[in-house]
Amino acid sequence: MNIQTFLLAKFKTALTSVGAPEDSPAPLSRSTRVGFGHYQFNGAMALSKVLKQNPREIAQKIVDAVELDGVVEKLEIAGPRFINIHLSPKWLATRLKATNLDPRLSIEAEDSQTIVVDYSAPNLAKEMHVGHLRSTIIGDAVTKTLEFLGHKVIRQNHMGDWGTQFGMLLAHLNDKLAANEVAETALSDLEDFYRAAKIRFDSEEGFADRARDFVVKLQGGDPQCMQLWQNFIDVSIKHSEEVYEKLNVTLKAEDIKGESAYNDDLADTVADLQAAGVVVESEGAQVAFLPEMADKDGNPAVYIVQKTGGGYLYATTDQAAIRYRNGVLGADRTLIFTDARQALHFKQTEIVARKAGFIKDSQSYEHCPFGMMLGNDGKPFKTRTGGTVKLAALLDEAVERAEALINKRESDLSAEERKLIASKVGIGAVKYADLSKNRTTDYVFNWDTMLSFEGNTAPYLQYAYTRVQSIFRKAQVTNENLEADIILQESQEALLAVKLMQYAEAIKQVSSDATPHVLCTYIYELASLFMTFYEACPILKEGIAEETKNSRLMLAQLTAKTLKSGLDLLGIDTMEKM
Ligand code: ARG
Repeated sequence: MNIQTFLLAKFKTALTSVGAPEDSPAPLSRSTRVGFGHYQFNGAMALSKVLKQNPREIAQKIVDAVELDGVVEKLEIAGPRFINIHLSPKWLATRLKATNLDPRLSIEAEDSQTIVVDYSAPNLAKEMHVGHLRSTIIGDAVTKTLEFLGHKVIRQNHMGDWGTQFGMLLAHLNDKLAANEVAETALSDLEDFYRAAKIRFDSEEGFADRARDFVVKLQGGDPQCMQLWQNFIDVSIKHSEEVYEKLNVTLKAEDIKGESAYNDDLADTVADLQAAGVVVESEGAQVAFLPEMADKDGNPAVYIVQKTGGGYLYATTDQAAIRYRNGVLGADRTLIFTDARQALHFKQTEIVARKAGFIKDSQSYEHCPFGMMLGNDGKPFKTRTGGTVKLAALLDEAVERAEALINKRESDLSAEERKLIASKVGIGAVKYADLSKNRTTDYVFNWDTMLSFEGNTAPYLQYAYTRVQSIFRKAQVTNENLEADIILQESQEALLAVKLMQYAEAIKQVSSDATPHVLCTYIYELASLFMTFYEACPILKEGIAEETKNSRLMLAQLTAKTLKSGLDLLGIDTMEKM
């Protein structure tokens, strides 16, 4: 259950009964300070102005009207504005017990929507880079959360598999194959391959013309050329899939719908944009002028969908993609994860698509930008020589580093077990470091911080989870043999209890704002509260009353389940021991 939503509904009813106009604001939030209750309602002041009554009296009327018998211990009016809501420990205890028995941890499904999530989307002409790593990890966590909440999610991997740069790549590949090289070998390093093709394009006599020829043939659907192109992108997709597999993300081959998939609809898309009066011809190009995004001199923004000479662009493909997603797939929401530098493009794309009726009023189009991944020097993350960091190698390094750390710790684990743990810790660390940062800000990629067993890191959380598991092993508790009442006596127990009940609120925010870091913060706070609880409230110590012990075991069990569930939504593995 979502306590915040539950309380809000109660307060809304109370507002109506004290004469508040419909749709009066009902601000209800978690209290930020101990002593101010668990939640606060602060709508009395605003309402007093509307009703022209004394705020304190209004607050009192709301307190008298709100029906929360058995739910709250007390409601207290603090100052003229706030109503502090203190939940009843008994009520919390009952809710927690029910939550612990429920495999869904009392998380209710949201009203189901069809949601298209466009993420990862590497450019196949080149090596997948860190920007796509971020998109992949964040997009996957949001996708899993939406699915958990009951939505129909359609993954769309909008791979960059088309465009003029393929001309030079295919010309170069053609020569390599003619010299009896196999595509896999020729393309084993896409970055090198791209560089070599570019050098030839810039300096080799006649090569640029051949490259342009290939573009024309490709666009004309010449079978031999298409075959060569297919060859190229197949190998490049394999590179991406290798990264997906290491990362343990849910993207599959059937989720790929690259730019090329829209080729057949581009001419119609432009024609429809013309017919709708959204684009006009300007200097031989097809252009939408957007006064709503004018520059400071009042010149409207220019959004080109067809170049002079007939070529289509990234923007055209995005318009066609919207037609497919909103029309054929019936998307209620579309979420697109790319770095923040594309924000303007998506804003303009949305304006144009709405004007053309490709996006209906009831449908949302949400660009979810993220910041850059920086190196320790605070500059964009690159190799020492300024090249693109190979993601597969980066992930291998993460696992190696984790293995070294784990081998240093004392344990009775076999070498094989340690290897498996190292892979979960290493990959988990890279993913979590990314997910836990506020999505929109840049962050520094640092091995030591992300692999630390202290602080807001994957290893810390994975370790916290194994600690609870070891308590259960000692107490010989399993999911099946523990069913006790929860009794909340100590303050640390009460704090942990409320936190456990707030899982639903964290997930809901990830769903509405596409911000996995909110879930990370929640899990980290939960794990930290558990550690404090465990120190203050011994479980297995000699002399602890049986019912206290069992109640605490229940709290520990629900903590473990919540940690596991949350980490799972983030795409991070847990283990029983480490
Ligand atoms: N391939 C693009 C890039 O690497 C990202 C595509 C995002 N999705 C979209 N519909 N434009 O920048």
